[in-house]
Amino acid sequence: MPRILLGVCGGIAAYKALEVTRLATKAGHSVRVVCTEAATRFVGTASFAAITGAPVLITEWEPDPLRGAFPGDPPPEHAPLSHLALVERADAYVIAPATAQTLAKLAGGQADNLLTAAALACRRPMIVAPAMNHAMYEHPATQANLDALRARGVIVLEPGTGPLGSPGEFGIGRLPEPAEILAAVEAVLAAAPRDLDGLGVLVTAGGTREPIDAVRFVGNRSSGRMGLAIAAAAERRGASVTLVAANVSIPRPPGIEYVDVETTAQLAAACDAHFDAADVLIMAAAVADYAPAAPHAGKLKKDQTGEELTLRLERTQDVLSGLAARRRADQMLVGFAAEHGDGALAYGREKLSRKNLDAVVVNDIGGTGIGFDAADNEVWIVTEGDERHVPRAPKDEIAEAILDAVLNRRSSNELKVRD
Ligand code: CTP
Repeated sequence: MPRILLGVCGGIAAYKALEVTRLATKAGHSVRVVCTEAATRFVGTASFAAITGAPVLITEWEPDPLRGAFPGDPPPEHAPLSHLALVERADAYVIAPATAQTLAKLAGGQADNLLTAAALACRRPMIVAPAMNHAMYEHPATQANLDALRARGVIVLEPGTGPLGSPGEFGIGRLPEPAEILAAVEAVLAAAPRDLDGLGVLVTAGGTREPIDAVRFVGNRSSGRMGLAIAAAAERRGASVTLVAANVSIPRPPGIEYVDVETTAQLAAACDAHFDAADVLIMAAAVADYAPAAPHAGKLKKDQTGEELTLRLERTQDVLSGLAARRRADQMLVGFAAEHGDGALAYGREKLSRKNLDAVVVNDIGGTGIGFDAADNEVWIVTEGDERHVPRAPKDEIAEAILDAVLNRRSSNELKVRD
């Protein structure tokens, strides 16, 4: 169910926000409302609460009984900061009516109340519907503020022309009709689908490190970018995402549950603990195949090791194969295969059947500027009887293609089950 966050500012048109709320909930959207103090002088919060079935928030300081959850979603276990929690969960943030004062604050990046703080933290599509006196709307300051917001990707709904709030006033500044506002929000929602809504997605990212002694390890060059991109894309598309992060030190997108691990054994334990709750497992981590057989407890000293040091490595457990062996029929498992040169695809196909997977993402690590620790990648997505080439692109785009393949595969599996 799409989640709409509605911000209501203090203006005569605030009463129309009630109708926006009513139409949105009637259309099946889940709606939360935040009001400015001034808005509450024009319209009662009890009406919004009754229509949405959720409390209305006004300041950052009041506890949110739903802890940032939208109607229909379970509240999280920990109480988050409400201005962050609401916009993180929303699919779109619409501010209607948006007053001249709030538009100025938004343009200036101010966060002096819950509504503006939520706007500053918002990474979702934002829509503002200005409504005010025509002189205020036409003032160069307001127009400059609207231009600044447009330049940042905010969608500005043009106000209508006609009689304004005060008797005898006529001009531009009328809030668009509630149905028009909802149609604009729905157009935005359609452009950013939440097609993974309700799915649990477990992703691994980064590279494991196997200790040689207390300070040294056997590791690999994986940065975790690919796994992080997949986790972020899945979260944007509505999934509830857990990321098992093996030594990942790049910035982390919000809205994801992170479990930090270092070694293959820790990664295996974390995956084991979260596997049952997952509908999809995407194993993007570069997991060590071998680990030092007898790691030294302290730091190895040269006078202990002499001129040569021989490390004996032993096989680690194959985490993905272990999970595949106990998978449920309704779970989807995606592995990665980092291969070199000719035969990469054939190896990928072989891995698909040997590890009992639904898809294998093959990347040729022989190419320059792609794969390990790079911003771009180029992959083949191998599924039973099919392989799809995804040409070189930023890892965010590759992530979307992988999730598309997962969805395709999931729907064809569901069709098979129904047959
Ligand atoms: N993998 C794993 N546990 C390991 C090693 C790898 O779960 N100990 C996972 C990786 O995360 C990846 C997939 O298995 O998704 C393929 O890894 P790779 O090492 O390329 O495959 P192998 O089957 O081990 O084949 P190879 O002989 O090419 O190393």
